[in-house]
Amino acid sequence: MVEATASLTLEELALFNELLASKFGLHFPEHKLEILESRLQPRLFANRLHRFMDYYLLLQYDLKRELDPLTRAITNNESYFFRETSQFEALDNHLLDELSQGGRAGKLRFLSAGCSSGEEPYTLNIFLRGFPAALGKDTLRIDGIDIDNQRLEMAELAVYRPTSLRVLNQQQCSRYFASRSGAGGAGFELRPAFRRGVRFSRGNILDPASYPSSEPYDAVFCRNVLIYFSETGLKAAIENFARAVRIGGLLFLGHSESIIGLTKAFQAERFGQCIAYRRKDS
Ligand SMILES: C[S@@+](CC[C@H](N)C(=O)[O-])C[C@H]1O[C@@H](n2cnc3c(N)ncnc32)[C@H](O)[C@@H]1O
Repeated sequence: MVEATASLTLEELALFNELLASKFGLHFPEHKLEILESRLQPRLFANRLHRFMDYYLLLQYDLKRELDPLTRAITNNESYFFRETSQFEALDNHLLDELSQGGRAGKLRFLSAGCSSGEEPYTLNIFLRGFPAALGKDTLRIDGIDIDNQRLEMAELAVYRPTSLRVLNQQQCSRYFASRSGAGGAGFELRPAFRRGVRFSRGNILDPASYPSSEPYDAVFCRNVLIYFSETGLKAAIENFARAVRIGGLLFLGHSESIIGLTKAFQAERFGQCIAYRRKDS
């Protein structure tokens, strides 16, 4: 039997936006109404509901039960290895030395906020492991957080489809990955040396208590996440990052994201081809 599809009205969009922004910071503008509609439609069917309003009410009363499928439905998890590498390239010996001197001796700590299935923190690890200034540290740790548990499981597994490796050349592929063949097709497993020091946990950018470390990070990467945030979500994220990054530490955003003019806690600085935000002493 073909299930009838429901339509999402503008009023319902506003209600969902209020909910999604308060829980996750996310916002779907009017021109993305159909995207939200098609992403939530399977949840209506799964819960045997006929109207988006009924699904909205269900979320109001039993969000806990729907949390996992809801986050999977509403998030864009697109990621791949070696994405926007200019930011990783900026982390040369000099900058890493500077970052570690300003923080706690012998330690370098990074946070990847909105890490999806791990491509970003693992790429960061691959780059860092090329620098003696990073490897000389007693502790090099990268924490990856995301609201999508399924993506985090994939990150832990560290086995990827060719599409995640699409910008790597043959030499890079075989240096960093071992190929695996299975029922699901070709897979590439990240070699253990490049997984070392990276750990994952469920964390919500809007909820600092869910960040894995209460000690401030030397740098936070939050790339291609805030473009999906509401204005209030964006402001809350900046405030939380201002607490999560130590004074003198750095915040890296995606190329199309900027916080210039939105905060006094960070100062934009150019590093080679990219802009990063330095946590000011305020
Ligand atoms: C487009 S992916 C970006 C992945 C990676 N940072 C990159 O640039 O390749 C966005 C990720 O942010 C996550 N995300 C969205 N809102 C979040 C929130 N409030 N807290 C943590 N992660 C969030 C999504 O689940 C998704 O995996």
